[in-house]
Amino acid sequence: MKKFLVIGNPIEHSLSPKLQNYWMKKNNINGLYKKKKLNDNELENLVSDIRNKNLIGVNVTVPFKRKIISYIDELEPSAEKTQSVNTIYLKSNKVVGQNTDIDGFERALKFTKFETSGKKIFILGAGGVVPSIITALNKMKASTITISNRTRQKADDLKNLFKNIKIVDWGNIPDFDIIINSTSVGLNKNDVINLDFSNVGKNKMFYDLIYNPKETNFLKSAKKQGNFTENGKMMFIYQASSAFKIWHGIEPEINDEVIKFIDQ
Ligand code: ATR
Repeated sequence: MKKFLVIGNPIEHSLSPKLQNYWMKKNNINGLYKKKKLNDNELENLVSDIRNKNLIGVNVTVPFKRKIISYIDELEPSAEKTQSVNTIYLKSNKVVGQNTDIDGFERALKFTKFETSGKKIFILGAGGVVPSIITALNKMKASTITISNRTRQKADDLKNLFKNIKIVDWGNIPDFDIIINSTSVGLNKNDVINLDFSNVGKNKMFYDLIYNPKETNFLKSAKKQGNFTENGKMMFIYQASSAFKIWHGIEPEINDEVIKFIDQ
């Protein structure tokens, strides 16, 4: 049986096992995908398990997307550019890191039908997934990308990877068409971002990378104000489908049944 893992810390919220096991079953693949909470000192052994073929593939989530890089043999260009790995596999006896978040986010934003080209983007947070979001937005020809992070230095550091971004202090809200919450605020149902959006107006796109819970307070209040909202579910599904394709060579079907199944 082919074995797969998603690793992170925390990991309880991850729906990756549910989706990957569903697709394997649909495609008659004899495999098992589990989740595992890891500590930093276990990353090396995890990579050995891939090298020894005890594991066929691994997804990586917070807080290991960057840390895992020092243990693997090769990076695909997307992972190199973003210094972020979310999918690992063995190719010609080398452990390879790939980034499917970029594609996942691009396809998810297209799915909303909200135009991105020429639009002003405001990103909250500067964590591991943000380089992938910026890469996708640059590909989609956003006009400006502004970032704000509680700890300003982390946002400033992103300028080393991306020269075209602007940084504002936490608490400042620039004019934007699309705002993306990439902070972890909202993972707990009662979390509220300590920013005041009462003056931003309506008809903007509020995108939350969080998909569990389905509607964060960030999205709830934006919707009440007359804005468009979208959670991270489609990004999650699309990044997972790219990982599935890498491991199994099959493009899994994304239809209403899959989308509903993830909601349950
Ligand atoms: P990592 O930083 O390890 O990559 P992450 O979950 O990807 O982890 O990132 C968490 C993001 O949520 C960070 O941008 C973090 O801000 P800091 O850099 O200041 O820690 C942000 N975050 C977490 N709790 C927050 C809070 N209460 N208010 C605002 N931002 C918060």
